[in-house]
Amino acid sequence: MHRRSFLRAGLSLGALPLAPAAGAASFAACPVFDPSDWDSVRAQFALSRDVIHMAMFYLASHPKPVADAIEGHRRALDENPVEAMHAQQGVADERQRRAAAEYIGGSAEQIALTDSTTMGLGLVFGGLVLRDGDEVLTTEHDHYSTHMSLEHRAERTGARVRKVGLYDDSASASAGEMVDRLRKAITDATRAVAVTWVHSSTGVKLPIAALSTMIAEVNRDREPADRILLCIDGVHGFGIEGADMDSLRCDFFIAGTHKWIFGPRGTGIIWGRPEAWQRVQPVIPSFGPNYGVWLGYLTSEQVQPASRMTPGGFHSFEHRWALEEAFRFHLEIGKSRVQARIHELNTRMKEGLAALASVRLRTPMSTALSSGIICFEVDGVPPEQVVERLRNKGIIASTTPYREQYARLAPSLINNEEEVERCVAAVAELS
Ligand SMILES: Cc1ncc(COP(=O)(O)O)c(C=O)c1O
Repeated sequence: MHRRSFLRAGLSLGALPLAPAAGAASFAACPVFDPSDWDSVRAQFALSRDVIHMAMFYLASHPKPVADAIEGHRRALDENPVEAMHAQQGVADERQRRAAAEYIGGSAEQIALTDSTTMGLGLVFGGLVLRDGDEVLTTEHDHYSTHMSLEHRAERTGARVRKVGLYDDSASASAGEMVDRLRKAITDATRAVAVTWVHSSTGVKLPIAALSTMIAEVNRDREPADRILLCIDGVHGFGIEGADMDSLRCDFFIAGTHKWIFGPRGTGIIWGRPEAWQRVQPVIPSFGPNYGVWLGYLTSEQVQPASRMTPGGFHSFEHRWALEEAFRFHLEIGKSRVQARIHELNTRMKEGLAALASVRLRTPMSTALSSGIICFEVDGVPPEQVVERLRNKGIIASTTPYREQYARLAPSLINNEEEVERCVAAVAELS
């Protein structure tokens, strides 16, 4: 990727003002939250109202309950950092893990807290027990953070990383073909499969449960240490698809919570099955109960593996401790309502774009194979220019930070039908 493209990849913002714009909203005017009303949901965000935000999957704006919680913790820490810390020690992390488990299923003991998707991927892949000759299989569609975490691990262990393409044409990708291609790429040496739930490169959503069934079949005749772990970068999809670990049936689910979940910036989680946690070793010392092992009053067997995998050191605690509010925000609205709403807005946008002769959708139309992110091309207009020209029309879009670039629009809970229509009309005027 060229330097200029790299700097602008992900989010081409044009000349965004740094100071709050004239249309800036504030929490002062925020009505009481009514989770049954989409206008009220939208009103919980202090987003500037003079632009249409269509790239919120890139980095969250904090909804009011999250912002209020952050502010409360910040004030307590500023007033008396040591005692504020002591008051929360041993309880705040547990509250976040319980809130995460309430949202995704499973139990708090299966969840580690992180600062981002990238940190989670680095911890899981960096700590994966691999022997010389073992292999990890990933795909050509995965994010830089997955590829690099695996590459770093391979350098240290002598394990091999292989990449497989799951589709040639993203718009016509099919679940059967994706499962089939992955199955064919698995060898006797494969110990882990690292895939992304929703590709930020194309908007394609993988059939995770079907992949899991296929891998379970391969694992059936293997010794426990040789079984393939299915590791998901779930950051896109998480906060849309009503993620539920029982139905996804993966081994590790790794996600930042500062995108679709609208959690505090700088937060994330790793969920892992108990047997899967046994296959990774900690990379960064945790400050939880593991400290007791070092002090000599606990044995390592008494410490949950997920707790040991939560990196220690001091964090931006006002953010970390406010994560539970984001899960609560989603649960108050209702996971299935969130999913239906985002798909409804996405389908409206995709149908509008598909009807334009100048546009080629790169994301499948099917809601079974897409989620939240819509990638597209406009004839004769490079993706960066699409984004820049949309910005000039007051729309914040983004480009894919991958070798092959597309423009992206991503309607989310903070958008409505009128904004979707205005985006389609603006794209229509581009070519
Ligand atoms: C698929 C995917 N994985 C990981 C990341 C990195 O996420 P984080 O900023 O939480 O580390 C991104 C980018 O935003 C992404 O699109």
